[in-house]
Amino acid sequence: MDNPPLRQRLEELRREIHQHNYRYYVLNAPTISDLEYDRLMNELKRIEAEHPEWITPDSPTQRAGAPPSEKFAKVRHPAPILSLANAFGADETRAWFERVRKLDERVERAQFVVEPKIDGLTVVLHYRRGVFVRGATRGDGEVGEDITANLRTIKAIPLRIPVDPSSLSTFDLPATLVVRGEVFITHKDFEALNRRLAEAGERTYLNPRNTAAGALRQLDPGVTASRPLTLLVYEIVHHEGGVVPSSQWGRLEYLRALGFPVTDAARRFDDIEEAIAYIESWGERRADLPYDADGVVIKIDDLNLAADLGVVGKDPRGAVAFKFPAQEVTTRLLDIRVNVGRTGVLTPYAVLEPVEIGGVKVERATLHNFDFIAGKDIRIGDRVLVKRAGEVIPYIIGPIVEARSGGERPYDPPEVCPACGEPVEHFEGEVAWYCVNAACPAQLIRNVEHFVSRGAMDIVGLGINIVRQLIEAGLVGDVADLYTLKREDLLALEGFAGKKADNLLSAIADSRKRPLNRLITALGIRGVGEVVAADLARHYPSLDELRRAAVEDLQAIEGIGPNVAQSIVDWFARPRNQQVLAKLKAAGVWPTGPLPVARRPSSAALNGLTFVVTGTLAGFTRQEAKEFIQAHGGKVTGSVSRKTDYLVAGENPGSKLEKARALGVRVIGEDELRKMAEN
Ligand code: IVH
Repeated sequence: MDNPPLRQRLEELRREIHQHNYRYYVLNAPTISDLEYDRLMNELKRIEAEHPEWITPDSPTQRAGAPPSEKFAKVRHPAPILSLANAFGADETRAWFERVRKLDERVERAQFVVEPKIDGLTVVLHYRRGVFVRGATRGDGEVGEDITANLRTIKAIPLRIPVDPSSLSTFDLPATLVVRGEVFITHKDFEALNRRLAEAGERTYLNPRNTAAGALRQLDPGVTASRPLTLLVYEIVHHEGGVVPSSQWGRLEYLRALGFPVTDAARRFDDIEEAIAYIESWGERRADLPYDADGVVIKIDDLNLAADLGVVGKDPRGAVAFKFPAQEVTTRLLDIRVNVGRTGVLTPYAVLEPVEIGGVKVERATLHNFDFIAGKDIRIGDRVLVKRAGEVIPYIIGPIVEARSGGERPYDPPEVCPACGEPVEHFEGEVAWYCVNAACPAQLIRNVEHFVSRGAMDIVGLGINIVRQLIEAGLVGDVADLYTLKREDLLALEGFAGKKADNLLSAIADSRKRPLNRLITALGIRGVGEVVAADLARHYPSLDELRRAAVEDLQAIEGIGPNVAQSIVDWFARPRNQQVLAKLKAAGVWPTGPLPVARRPSSAALNGLTFVVTGTLAGFTRQEAKEFIQAHGGKVTGSVSRKTDYLVAGENPGSKLEKARALGVRVIGEDELRKMAEN
């Protein structure tokens, strides 16, 4: 049924949301809060649910969710996707300039545009009457692969252009516009992704470029959506109808005006020497770029002139890639050592003969994981290739096998933790090896910090510095020792006047009253956050019963999978953990009984909204969050689907977060949840 006002509202919402996406993902300058954004998106979703016939592929609700493809279809590019000739250094750049000047005297007076050469993946984006209709890889330059569904998940790619219709007055939009850009992952996002994976015991990625390449060629767009891909656009490959600028500089501005992300590091120069001077100054600033760049591209600004110069093979004569000196060097691998992380994950790292890479002295580099060392057959004493790019931690690419002298030693991963000497363990389905000893000194500080934290035993005033002080003074060797601290022990520590010691002791005494779920959380069992702890506390009246539970019993509890069940059983089986438990019990820290019911305020603020809760929340258990949402009229379900309005995510959210992102479900924190409920 037709409904013009509603239809109009739908268009208005789409336009607004596209603009907010653009402000958020391209300009990094949002003008509305997440909450306001959610309201717009929900209103749009509601209208589209009522009128599925109005859903179009450029709707902001359609970013993800296409079914996985069997394989990618081929796409013929409307014009060849060319490559670039390289120039190493100023002299080779001048030689390029001389060559093209001899071919065409107009080059003498030409202007040049200099842009970063991003080390990502070329993509070709097709817009038909302003709507993103197809996206392809470069392939062989003539034919690429259709990765449209994957590209739609990249929020920096506008689904409709111009994003802001009022910004485009000078030019008509071509009926067909095909642009080229580079998809990549920033250093910051890459590090964060790897940190998350390492904490979860999963395989980390080797470098941003390979990660981006793998993500783009996923058959399941949901997986692509979970990788932090972004894009910069720099070329118009083809256009039909409309008028587009005939200079590179003009086109960069034009693309920006249409709402594409375009680098702000491009510059235009009146002659080649100015351009070269600028590029040489880039050398040092290159590491400041938030992504990998392996050089800069120098382009003749006048694109008609550039086209007239022609192409050699696949390299246009009108542009050249000025390559930075390699950020890769070789050096000797002196030793392989192992770090013990917060969750006990063991991570190998390389001790290197000091070497300079891009002006920075490098002595350590990551070796990712033990499988990587074995897979690449990296041996101590090897000459190794090391790469450092921007802020990314330097990493080993591999050994130079030809440089071996025979004295190199194969590496055996440790069988015991380097910090405490306890045997290390491996869990099925994970690549990481763990030290699972609760009393490991490398983990002890982190363990105690976790034990006393807000969602756990909540010992107010016991910060990381005091934790360190207590451990260094030998007063605390495990978490149970907190409960036998004496006033005179504390008074002997630096900075502990009478009052401070008394306050700390009373905060510790206070924590004895915490309910069972908090104590279970506090133990820091792998895979057991607040949510699982609350589930366990509902099923077992005390730690006496929990520690007797078998894997099958635990797995019977909803929300507990085989890995977590096994991890719980293993934790209780370890002698050191049993000692800690015995000490806690002796100290009277042994809560029993059911979980206290959440206080329930009530309203209808969340009426009609469906929530899923995941991860560790600071102020709620999962049950409490559920009751809170229900008390305000909302509905809570166990898994994320298209019908979910909000995912409330705490720490370590896991796969639900990925799924929510893939489906475009809004993700909020508990503070936002409270705000919504109070509104
Ligand atoms: S221009 C005719 N500009 O570098 C136009 N390329 O072979 C040729 N690249 O993989 C490309 N940033 O995808 C151009 N600002 C930039 C670029 C860039 C990265 C990549 C390109 C290709 C390689 C050049």
